Amino acid sequence: MDLYIQLCQDPQYGGRLASVVLPRLREFFADKDSRKPPVIWLETTGCSGNSVSLWNAIGPDLGQILEDMIDLRYWNFLMAAQDDRAIELLHNTAAGRKNRFILVVEGAIALNERYTVVHRRAGKDYSALEMVRFLGRSAQHVMAVGTCASFGGPSAAHPNPSRSVGLEEAINRKVIKASGCPAHPDWIIGTLGYILMFGEPELDEHGRPRIFYGETVHRRCTRRSFFERGIFAQSLGDPECMLRLGCKGPVTGADCPTRQWNSYVSWPVEANTPCIGCTNPGFPDQMEPFFEPLPERDEQTANPVNPCHLVKSRITRRGGRL
Ligand code: SF4
Ligand code: F3S
Repeated sequence: MDLYIQLCQDPQYGGRLASVVLPRLREFFADKDSRKPPVIWLETTGCSGNSVSLWNAIGPDLGQILEDMIDLRYWNFLMAAQDDRAIELLHNTAAGRKNRFILVVEGAIALNERYTVVHRRAGKDYSALEMVRFLGRSAQHVMAVGTCASFGGPSAAHPNPSRSVGLEEAINRKVIKASGCPAHPDWIIGTLGYILMFGEPELDEHGRPRIFYGETVHRRCTRRSFFERGIFAQSLGDPECMLRLGCKGPVTGADCPTRQWNSYVSWPVEANTPCIGCTNPGFPDQMEPFFEPLPERDEQTANPVNPCHLVKSRITRRGGRL
């Protein structure tokens, strides 16, 4: 287990998570003489961005995931079948299989149920809320993929007419959260691989696996030396630290600087945009305005403050849950 964690976190394996996860999964399934676990992936109130992010995975790619990792029973976004047979498969996978399948949910859950009907069976409409409560009761593990499923995210942003919430709030059971808008393919695959082999990973205070979210973006940012010397960018495109352009890196748990995005070639700060805190609870409302320069001093006491503390206190004063 320790080796798995170490390999997932090691920057030199960036782009080659397949070489870490897949051989261990093959060994694991051979040793245990067990079959790949059934997985139900339910898309609810969201933009499908996490599915698209996962399709961009290059190591392992989607084909390897489906062949070597999981027995995918239902994915309303991916599967060609959309009729009664697909729905039957979904219900049959859950029925009589207590603790035998993994439920993955992408998207927030609309408490105003008419906003998200996921399917119709025998003339009855099934809302996302109904389905996640039904499936969540018997799933062995429940995993949220993306910030909408994890915390509500953009789907729950003001004024939130659908009354969308994160999955955990909707089903009232523990949820393993691979947050992000979207989640990085490695965060999804690495977390799923860990669940398959070892069960629940160690989670941070927001329910996210520490393997990927245990350190802040700020900790290993490539502009950190500018921050330490108090040299700040004045406008977007300047090469220095973007704290005063609103960067939320100091309060955002994610390994973007070392993992990198888009086939491991770059990440937001390297592409000259501040971190907007996309993995955080309260994103986007409590991370806005994204590009507002931070005040030099504490807003209430007027005393000079550590910029990291200032970001955090500003967010919590505005009703955040960080
Ligand atoms: Fe990097 Fe943002 Fe931290 Fe500056 S504040 S060092 S740009 S993460
Ligand atoms: Fe999101 Fe910040 Fe990474 S905006 S993608 S957590 S750098």
